[in-house]
Amino acid sequence: MDLTHRPRRLRTDGIRPLVRETTLSPSDLIAPVFVDATTDERVPIGSMPGHVRVPVSGIVDRVEEVLETGVEAVMLFGIPESKDEVGSRAYAEDGVVQRAMRAVSEETDAYVVGDVCLCEYTSHGHCGVLTDEARGRWERLHRGDDPAHVTDSSLTVENDRTLDLLARTAVSQADAGADMVAPSSMTDGMVGAIRAALDDAGHEDVPVMSYAAKFESAFYGPFRDAADGAPAFGDRSHYQMDPANAREAMREVRLDVEQGADVLMVKPALPYLDVVRAVRETYDHPVAAYNVSGEYAMLHAAAEKGWLDLDAVARESVLSIKRAGADLVVTYFAERLAEDLSTP
Ligand code: PBG
Repeated sequence: MDLTHRPRRLRTDGIRPLVRETTLSPSDLIAPVFVDATTDERVPIGSMPGHVRVPVSGIVDRVEEVLETGVEAVMLFGIPESKDEVGSRAYAEDGVVQRAMRAVSEETDAYVVGDVCLCEYTSHGHCGVLTDEARGRWERLHRGDDPAHVTDSSLTVENDRTLDLLARTAVSQADAGADMVAPSSMTDGMVGAIRAALDDAGHEDVPVMSYAAKFESAFYGPFRDAADGAPAFGDRSHYQMDPANAREAMREVRLDVEQGADVLMVKPALPYLDVVRAVRETYDHPVAAYNVSGEYAMLHAAAEKGWLDLDAVARESVLSIKRAGADLVVTYFAERLAEDLSTP
């Protein structure tokens, strides 16, 4: 055959590494960790094999385990001792996450990111303050009444009254030593409110990584078990984005850029790689993607059945997220991948 073009020439063992376009390194990864005020021992998370909730007294050890793999950043999620309608344990000075952050920032070298949201802290499980209509609906549900007469079940959270609580949460985390805050509630104006509050409190140097395009995804299922944050009624379609909308995602990202976001996140990752790519091409900010609990759980489940090689698919997944344009990836595979990358 008289073939001029033989791409296979560049696929020998010797040259493949030289022409590789995308690489993975432990320093690209952020490992989520869960700290739980309701337990004094490690509790495995059933839907997320290998992950645990640890008590505050165990958080330093847990973070040290992450650091030993070569991953340098953690994202902290808290399970509070009690919940109320306005999520007050999310912004308490002695809240579970704040106590954990103090310990981790004092005793380890980890870069500490705080997830800023209310859903793990509210009794109703929504990411903000309920509207009067939603509160009425919730009360009727409690009484066992049929909620069918409610016309729009999606109008759950009051946007503007939620902003102040998110800002307080972010400031309380920065006060406790968070290096970066990551608001995930999809409240309109959240980045601007948090930026202003951080600046007022003297935290001008704490960056905001916005969950800028966060979709209303069924892939969050296992996380809601892990962090006990499922909504008690209704869903999140009033505030999280319709999975059908990519142009709207760009508008969400633009608004967060205008409000001062430092890092732009897309979430989930694998089903939304088109959005990751579009954000990469449009903005010069660092782009993050969140490889969520469902993306983790489904690979684990298939591997458990012997249908997939877990290390290989984990590596390929995170590589794909980077190839699409993410600079950093929040992933439950962080430790496993880092260990895999360091074994020749
Ligand atoms: C809090 C929050 C959630 C996740 C991260 N931050 C839950 C949700 O929005 O329902 C999901 C993470 C995952 O599924 O891995 N709002």
